[in-house]
Amino acid sequence: MRNKMRLYIYLNIAVIVSIFLIIFYLYSIKQIDYYRENVHSELSINIQNSANEIIFYKRNDIVVAVVACGDRLRESLTLIKSALMFSKAKLNFIVLAEDNLIESFTEKLEEWKSFTNNAFTYNVLPLNFPTKDGNEWKKLFKPCAAQRLFLPDILPGVDSLLYMDTDTLFLTPVESIWEYFNKFNRSQMAALAPEHEDSNIGWYNRFAKHPYYGKLGVNSGVMLMNLTRMRAFKWTEYVVPIYRKFKLHITWGDQDIINIIFHYHPGRLFLYSCRYNYRPDHCMYSSICKSAEKDGVAVMHGSRGFFHSEKQPVFKAIFNAFDSFQIGSDVYKEFYQPLETYLDALEHTNCGKVKYVFLRNLQRFLDLEFDNT
Ligand SMILES: *[C@@H]1O[C@H](CO)[C@@H](O)[C@H](O)[C@H]1NC(C)=O
Ligand SMILES: *[C@@H]1O[C@H](CO)[C@@H](O)[C@H](O)[C@H]1NC(C)=O
Repeated sequence: MRNKMRLYIYLNIAVIVSIFLIIFYLYSIKQIDYYRENVHSELSINIQNSANEIIFYKRNDIVVAVVACGDRLRESLTLIKSALMFSKAKLNFIVLAEDNLIESFTEKLEEWKSFTNNAFTYNVLPLNFPTKDGNEWKKLFKPCAAQRLFLPDILPGVDSLLYMDTDTLFLTPVESIWEYFNKFNRSQMAALAPEHEDSNIGWYNRFAKHPYYGKLGVNSGVMLMNLTRMRAFKWTEYVVPIYRKFKLHITWGDQDIINIIFHYHPGRLFLYSCRYNYRPDHCMYSSICKSAEKDGVAVMHGSRGFFHSEKQPVFKAIFNAFDSFQIGSDVYKEFYQPLETYLDALEHTNCGKVKYVFLRNLQRFLDLEFDNT
């Protein structure tokens, strides 16, 4: 009798606790919506650049956006150089830079413009954060990476752009990535590549304490953004409340926020393959990016400082080859040939074993025979 009574009490407690948990869960979901509705008034985003002009780019203008702070000047310029080396279409660059970098960017881009017969346009703009939490945002991740979360609002005249982390390089014409906008269905507003290919070494599935997109999360380093659609979705109104709710659980800054948003709205994201965001993770243990093996790397991403470290010599060698190339000189002689020689010397490393994945797109661009060894 006693035991039955006790069991009955325990059961009751269990039921009450479960009800509380469910209520708490529903409440926390509601909270996001609540924040979303109330946060708008707190944001006062300055939508004009220093010259007080709004920049306009229509849907067919290819726009590449970079955000640069601290010591990222050289890296960002090397990225822009790689875009200019392979693209045939007219490119338009938007650089959001810390004040002390603006002059150096302008100087170099102006010089390249004259070398390339005005093959591109550019705008170098100062950073622009929501005033209220401005300082908090700047500190969120690597200096100023959070800036990109606000692009839909700070560039109200731009339809779409390709956002690139500064530690990325194009091994393909930009237009071949831009074409993915045509593959979006009516609800998709952005495209990203998976954070990982293999769940045994994935980060989000093993360590994240917050929701993330799909099975293994997405990497945010190479992001096609249809800003028109992101504005219609009211993107910025999601960013601030999600940041407030999850800030203690966020490790990779803006990338985590992007993962959380697309966790709740998976139908809004187009997923392209790892060859559009190829990182050392894809070859450092063994080669795990099948699309790169098949068609070559389109964009490489020296995440976690790998363009500048001895740990991944292939990544460093490729960065250096781009870095030393002079705009206007012969891409085959001054870039491809020396690069091939460097990579030949690195065949003993895991990434060097699959050096053809890096060379394949370049060979295609330069009309060379494929080399499959
Ligand atoms: C972005 O979305 C808008 C609204 O759906 C559409 O009109 C525009 O063509 C899209 N831009 C690109 C580059 O696909
Ligand atoms: C667009 O594609 C995504 C991903 O496949 C899907 O979840 C979504 O429902 C699609 N939207 C429309 C309008 O077809």
